[in-house]
Amino acid sequence: MSLNLFAKKDLQSILREAEGESAGLKRALGPFNLITLGIGAIIGTGIFVLTGPVAAENAGPAIVLSFVVAAIACAFAGLCYAEFASLIPIAGSAYSYSYTTLGEIVAWMIGWALVLEYAFGAATVAVGWSGYINSFLQDMGIHLPPTLTAAPGTTIVQYNGRWERLGSLTGVNTAALPHVISHFDLIAFIGIALVTSILVIGIKESANLNTGIVVVKVSVLLVFIGLGIDFLSASHWAPLAANWHPFIPPNLGHFGEFGWSGVLRGAGIIFFAYIGFDAVSTAAQEASNPQRDMPIGILGSLVICTVLYILVGGILTALLPYHVLNVPDPVAIGVDKTGVAWGSFLVKIGAIGGLTSTMLVMLLGQSRVFFTMAHDGLLWKWAGKVHKKFHTPYLSSIVIGVCVATLAATLPITTLDELTSIGTLFAFTIVCAGVWILRVREPNLKRPFKTPWVPFVPIMGMLVSLALMLSLHALTWEVFLIWLVIGLFVYSLYSRKHSKVQQELQGADAD
Ligand code: ALA
Repeated sequence: MSLNLFAKKDLQSILREAEGESAGLKRALGPFNLITLGIGAIIGTGIFVLTGPVAAENAGPAIVLSFVVAAIACAFAGLCYAEFASLIPIAGSAYSYSYTTLGEIVAWMIGWALVLEYAFGAATVAVGWSGYINSFLQDMGIHLPPTLTAAPGTTIVQYNGRWERLGSLTGVNTAALPHVISHFDLIAFIGIALVTSILVIGIKESANLNTGIVVVKVSVLLVFIGLGIDFLSASHWAPLAANWHPFIPPNLGHFGEFGWSGVLRGAGIIFFAYIGFDAVSTAAQEASNPQRDMPIGILGSLVICTVLYILVGGILTALLPYHVLNVPDPVAIGVDKTGVAWGSFLVKIGAIGGLTSTMLVMLLGQSRVFFTMAHDGLLWKWAGKVHKKFHTPYLSSIVIGVCVATLAATLPITTLDELTSIGTLFAFTIVCAGVWILRVREPNLKRPFKTPWVPFVPIMGMLVSLALMLSLHALTWEVFLIWLVIGLFVYSLYSRKHSKVQQELQGADAD
């Protein structure tokens, strides 16, 4: 049996597929839902947690510039996603785009790498979610058994009447404190299970829940911005003049520790805060008018979040000296500075909401990518099954939910955010290349949205994504490469034998 690893899916047949019955999925999402889906995935750990360490260790007040640099990098990729998502509005996102432009094996690798973005991303976020929920419950006097609040092996200590993860207590002598070892992170498990149930029940229900949460988390950020500006103007901007001086702290002698290199390293880390706008494209098969609304959803959510991030980063570093921001809840201590008593309670609500919708949209994206791969014969048929009543790929959602919940509850994965970034950047690189390739190969195709300045924008998108990938740690690269090798095994054992494109090619050879 001959195998063409670079066999491509016929573009015209994909376009017909997209126009048709949408494979049982329901076309229920309008432009507002799509923008909120993007914001739902984007605003999460990045702004609520990473802003602090990046300001304290890499960029100082110039974290504002790091946000701008990361946004420019995302804009190149966002423009390319917008062209593809409006042209090929099916659920597979980067996987489907590469199947028509670069061939099956590349598409397979992208589909496999997207697991790192969506499934591992959701698991990572669930661990942070569990920490926030536990802290919130303890604020309200509810104490869960500490052995069920973190990954197995995590030390939980009792401090000031609360159970805290050992790593979250800095500057405290913990040796003499009562402690237990956790067995299972039940909260993270329940979080993923709840989100999965919503995803199974319906796309409209999922989108509505997401919209509600987005309203909460955007409001929290707007309140923070409002309180911050009010406090600063009432103090005649004196804290800003003091804390923003110097705006770019001088470099400490190593790459990435302040100075311009710190701005760049900061951009590489804070890139995580923008991940998620691409997930809008996985809902293309459930959009009422994808040709018009996909670019609105992708680019609209990116623009709104960029403005919010720049304002939050700027105000936070104006309120407090950057070196005190290396804490797990920088936005909460920023709002405390304004003297508003309910501020940190509000920020916790925003963070819990933020992380819930990030998990929701990431799991949505993962199930839709698997759904499309199953339809192409590259994954098992069950992953493509749609529920008769709910019109959702329920089996794919449930299996992914169980795996992600188990992962989140049993592995200490707080540091896996770089894996999410590398999987995403790999997909960005291929999507940018794909736009350029398709422009050359099919110049006359009717494109509802055209990426401007091709090939400049795709080339910049590829270069910036590759540069950001190279800025990640060696260990991340090792795990990423091992993951791709495992993917090649699955491809050779199952996918190549069941691929519909390969079967069509064999049929054509036999004729
Ligand atoms: N952008 C998402 C977050 O910051 C992944 O949590």
